[in-house]
Amino acid sequence: MDVVVFGAGSLGSLVGGLCAREHDVTLVGRDPHVAAVRESGLTVTGAVELAVEPDARTTVPDHADLALVTVKSFDTQAAARALTDCDPEVVCSLQNGLGNEERLARTHDTVLAGTCTYGARLDGPGRVACTGVGEVVVGDPDGGPSTAAERVGSALRAADIDAQVSTRMARRRWEKLAVNAGVNPVTALAGVSNGALADDPLHEIATAAARETARVARENDVDLSDGKAVAALESVVETTAENHSSMLQDVRANNRTEVDAINGAVVARADEPAPVNRTLAGLVRGRTD
Ligand code: PAF
Repeated sequence: MDVVVFGAGSLGSLVGGLCAREHDVTLVGRDPHVAAVRESGLTVTGAVELAVEPDARTTVPDHADLALVTVKSFDTQAAARALTDCDPEVVCSLQNGLGNEERLARTHDTVLAGTCTYGARLDGPGRVACTGVGEVVVGDPDGGPSTAAERVGSALRAADIDAQVSTRMARRRWEKLAVNAGVNPVTALAGVSNGALADDPLHEIATAAARETARVARENDVDLSDGKAVAALESVVETTAENHSSMLQDVRANNRTEVDAINGAVVARADEPAPVNRTLAGLVRGRTD
């Protein structure tokens, strides 16, 4: 299968590298990373070790069967536009936050929602570390059976990725949102790796954000219990204990964060006040150093 990974940062490079064990992969990202991959291949270290030679470019190729979108949520619209050049049969978002699939669906017919809990860190041009083996779940964004999702699930499993197909993607997306709503701002603000959230005082704050997100999910007719949201967060904290969350990496690099699509999205969709997510969002947005 021809797979294009649009957004070859840390997670995109890891997923693309794993896919390249079985498929013809093109990583689309920025120099100097993509130039290094083109010249010397991609090295994955850590929980998974491999060296692969995917194609790597700064623009999309002419053709793709599957596009995996791994750009930051605020770049989704630009990704959707750029991907029209290779007209992929299926576009699957593996991004954080809410609203990505809706944006991709404006320019692409078959769009899948996906969640990915692998931990990844870009160690330098051409080098990515797998800091936690997680799972990928794909499915129709609105739920129900999807032959496209079955095809993508099989393709990922063929590349030895722990991939499942879900017919209840709305709940999965909100469950992942609950994980990100707790893990990302708390690790970014406290300056700690994910594993530090296993204990108080950070455990209490992160789980409060996850519980509040589950409550907002239920306000949006998504059946996610507080217990499931907290269990999902605790499982990610354990399996990606060594990982620096994407928001911590963004804050440290002085890059724009995904707080609007994560905690901001929870607040925006809440019927009742959501003070935990509102406070965390405000603190992340208000940081000055
Ligand atoms: O954004 C992230 O960092 C990741 O989604 C996750 C799963 C929280 C792991 O760090």
